[in-house]
Amino acid sequence: MRKKFIAGNWKMNTNAAQGVELAAALAKAIGSSTDVEVAVCPPALYLSAVGAAIKGSSIGLGAQNCHHEAKGAFTGEIAPAMLLDVGCKYVILGHSERRQLFHETNADVNKKTIAALAAGLTPIVCVGESLAERQANKTSDVVREQVQGSLAGLAGEQILKLVIAYEPIWAIGTGVVATPEQAEEVHADLRSLLTSRYTAAVADKVRIQYGGSVNAENAKTLLSQPNIDGALVGGASLKADGFLAIINGAK
Ligand code: PGA
Repeated sequence: MRKKFIAGNWKMNTNAAQGVELAAALAKAIGSSTDVEVAVCPPALYLSAVGAAIKGSSIGLGAQNCHHEAKGAFTGEIAPAMLLDVGCKYVILGHSERRQLFHETNADVNKKTIAALAAGLTPIVCVGESLAERQANKTSDVVREQVQGSLAGLAGEQILKLVIAYEPIWAIGTGVVATPEQAEEVHADLRSLLTSRYTAAVADKVRIQYGGSVNAENAKTLLSQPNIDGALVGGASLKADGFLAIINGAK
């Protein structure tokens, strides 16, 4: 049985005080409850402050990106071990905004995933097709290639230590959510890819989150699909009430 995992991707939003306030409200409501795994991923600059605000609760801390090198002359970058050092458990990798706006390739995401795993972080590896790709019936090809490229060279035991997020680009921040059937079809396809690349036992344990316009209203039906194991939530994770409603929808 895969435990549902809801993560909030705050992107480049909040200031320090707002981030701490949001995190504290979530920690108060969630406490030490562990029936759903929950994470918040604030801007890197606020990781320590948000980490302090969720301390003592079951909420995990996540970053939105990292570099693949351990240290050195990489101005502006953050190493996986540094994220661990400030209390992170998770790191989002290969988000479509990173892929589109910052030109990250599957090979880049692969290097970051390997580095994050080596440091002891749980990568949340994002994949997803554009609207044009979906309309051209290329969804399966695109997401399979992204998963294969981003997870290249990883052994089954490493796959068990990461999470995949299926985020169709046309659904991100648009209010146009994938239907539960559309999302389930891709999740099931990715699980069968994992079965063929690893084993059925491994594929059965890997959690695949859905992301893209998840909100309090649509979360429950999406999360009741057999292969949807959680949600990566952007906009709706910025208000405590809305995010808590999504978490409740996972119960
Ligand atoms: P959204 O973003 O929930 O605002 O659509 C999701 C994401 O980009 O992870």
